[in-house]
Amino acid sequence: MQISDILNDEAVGKSVTIKGWVYRWRESGRLVFIIIRDSTNIIQAIAEKGVISDEEFINAKKLTIESSLEITGDIVKEPKAVTGYEIHISSLKVYNFAEKFPITKDKSDEFLLDIRHLWLRSREMTATLKIRETVYDSARSYFREKFYHEVTPPMFVGAAVEGGSTLFEVPYFGEKAYLTQSSQFYLEAFIFSLERVYTISPSFRAEKSRTRRHLTEFSHLEGEAAWIGNQEMMNIEEELIIHIVQDLISRNKEDLVILKRDLQKLKNIDKPFYRYRYEKIIEIGRSKGIDLPDIVDLGEKEEREITEGFDKPIFVYNYPTSLKPFYHRLDPEDSSHVLCHDLLAPEGYGEVIGGGERIWSKEELISRIKSDGLNPDDYEWYIDLRKYGSVPHSGFGLGIDRLVTWLAGLDHIKNAVPFPRTIRRLKP
Ligand code: 4AD
Ligand code: MG
Repeated sequence: MQISDILNDEAVGKSVTIKGWVYRWRESGRLVFIIIRDSTNIIQAIAEKGVISDEEFINAKKLTIESSLEITGDIVKEPKAVTGYEIHISSLKVYNFAEKFPITKDKSDEFLLDIRHLWLRSREMTATLKIRETVYDSARSYFREKFYHEVTPPMFVGAAVEGGSTLFEVPYFGEKAYLTQSSQFYLEAFIFSLERVYTISPSFRAEKSRTRRHLTEFSHLEGEAAWIGNQEMMNIEEELIIHIVQDLISRNKEDLVILKRDLQKLKNIDKPFYRYRYEKIIEIGRSKGIDLPDIVDLGEKEEREITEGFDKPIFVYNYPTSLKPFYHRLDPEDSSHVLCHDLLAPEGYGEVIGGGERIWSKEELISRIKSDGLNPDDYEWYIDLRKYGSVPHSGFGLGIDRLVTWLAGLDHIKNAVPFPRTIRRLKP
């Protein structure tokens, strides 16, 4: 039995056995009140002297926070108990008397990161982990419904996708390898076989920026589809996000409440999202008093200020060519811009998706690789894809950890990830 199964009137009067950990504990004469948690919820249990054996009662009095135990007892409705029901214990078995648990009321953010392996048990982290799971599951179910195939690209790669400054180099049997920054180029290879593909894989960036949205290892949902243009790709992403938000609201209401998320803000997320050309978003930024040149890579701070008052996500499309990597297709009507988009989350969260249409002509690709100062030899197999039956195609990359930060209303990406990796953190 799990605790969530017994928090209802039908369970009252039944004898149940549950296993879990001591969440809180206090004694009062002949009684010991134990709040027990398992992965599903918490419940109060009462051990009474004389009802259980003397040895069991002595053990109940010796319990400590996080001790692991198994109890059997009858369920009683008790509106004053923390979750409305309690268990009157008839037998109690302790698996481990926990040593003094290091997490107390005063907990600094740094300390909680140092002991993340223990803080994972907190109600906040448990709720966040369940929200993450729904995001993964919901994304997969969306793609299954749309006949996308899930694929598995490699993590060791031979060349940069998103520019050299954030590459992690690793020794590789006398050669140089890198940890992948994005699986995009591999997904582009898969579409010639499967047409519509996606993956949820880690991506790695040697990010020196310490912002509330940068990790060195993040969970990357990437999709790629043949015969699809930039605007159509945005339609797919819009549907995907709405699908995920609806699943979250229906499956994770309690978790969102634990995290104090304003549910109404999530309920507002519906079609259509805002869609602005790049120049328009610069104009919006200026109208909010931000000093912006005509062409600028918007950073965390600028995107926060721009998106703060918005109620729905914002697509920003057709960025100036100089701001984006070489693989984006030039707008045939205006080669100073590329057919790409970012999706900015509202409420100050900013970029969660980068995507667009890919160059599909061999000549254009080689010339863009060169004009970005890169060597076409490093991209030989990628250029090959343009030689044999090339087709128009588009794709995107969604940062799952950023999406969870926004959807769960968290203040920092580190709190959306079980074991965050940053420039200064490799442990636990
Ligand atoms: O905008 P980015 O760099 O685009 C790409 O990597 C494309 N190749 C994806 C594609 O088209 N298949 O990264 C995509 C998303 C960002 O919008 C952001 O959500 C997330 O990945 N991301 C990060 N998340 C956490 N920490 C970082 N350091 C991130 N860098 C990117
Ligand atoms: Mg980007």
